[in-house]
Amino acid sequence: MRKTTLGFVAALAAGAIALTGCSGGRGDTGDATGGSDGTEAAAAGFDADATIGVSLPWLGTQNWTEAQDMFTTELTDAGFKPLVQAADNKVTQQQQQIESMIEQGAKVIVVAPIDGTQLGSVLESAKDAGVYVIGYDRLIENTDAVDGVVQFGSIRTGELQGQALLDGLKELKGDGPYNIELFGGGPADPNAPAFFEGAMSVLQPKIDDGTLVVVSGQTDFTQVATADWDNSKAQARMDSLLSGYYSDKKIDGVLSPNDGIARAIITSAQDAGQDVPVVSGLDAENESVTSIWNGIQYSTVAKPTSDLVGKTMEIITSLQQGDGFPEATEQVDNGVKDVDVYLLDPVVVTKANIKEVFANDPSRLALLN
Ligand code: BGC
Repeated sequence: MRKTTLGFVAALAAGAIALTGCSGGRGDTGDATGGSDGTEAAAAGFDADATIGVSLPWLGTQNWTEAQDMFTTELTDAGFKPLVQAADNKVTQQQQQIESMIEQGAKVIVVAPIDGTQLGSVLESAKDAGVYVIGYDRLIENTDAVDGVVQFGSIRTGELQGQALLDGLKELKGDGPYNIELFGGGPADPNAPAFFEGAMSVLQPKIDDGTLVVVSGQTDFTQVATADWDNSKAQARMDSLLSGYYSDKKIDGVLSPNDGIARAIITSAQDAGQDVPVVSGLDAENESVTSIWNGIQYSTVAKPTSDLVGKTMEIITSLQQGDGFPEATEQVDNGVKDVDVYLLDPVVVTKANIKEVFANDPSRLALLN
């Protein structure tokens, strides 16, 4: 089991980057909810028709609506009572929804936090009530009231986005130097700084050697983040970048943290009379799959919701049967403890490999005609 840290922003905030080799593994992270080593609560299991809560941050991107549908169906099919709710990006609403799940006797609560750091006290209540807490797609930070997290590697996702941008520039925009701009996701979401960190690990050396020119000079996460992952805010920022810095220049490429923001960036560039820049993405949303197929958006990164939900269901089933948490892939320091993480591998998608990647995904394959 590997042990890694949070993204650099959170790690700096925590005041230390403790990157060590293998730790004691899951046996040393047991806690009052049964922990990850199969102690009391885990060994007892729970009723096969128990209530299972799923708390999603919002339904503003396709991955969350897919999660809502898949959890509802798969929990029902497995015999559980699903309580699946989304919180419209409002932290208080998410806290209230989780409280209500505890009151309704949920045995497991699956949480994708709006703000990775704002759920400590409600999750403490969950833990006091003997509820298992599983983070979903996003890390839950600064609390020990989390038993495990299922997610795709966020740094890895960012690396793929940065590399795709570089590859696309070489493929489509001739020889450099290339004019680019950078966008990040919602700053409260722990994934967003991690995606950016991964991307910059690829892009920064190329900025330093002059291959890439960030014409606006905006290269810090705080300058490029998109509040609430709001596409219209990204589009407004792109509009002002283009009018402020590109009235006499071409823009060749843009780092985008997800597909919704990618499409907003492309629309802005088209409205400004620019050729379509090379733009990265994430989620393999239907609209972007079509756009990539049509040669407009350059790339996305697939992190299939079916894989995330499938892994989470496997953990819930194991807990229900009293088998505790399965072996995790690695541990991540969430600021308070090393959390067991079940890590999945994201895949970059361009027009060149899109049919291959979605060979087993009939609904996306159907878009490629
Ligand atoms: C998810 C992305 C999603 C974004 C905005 C991130 O945490 O990993 O899949 O596009 O949130 O909803």
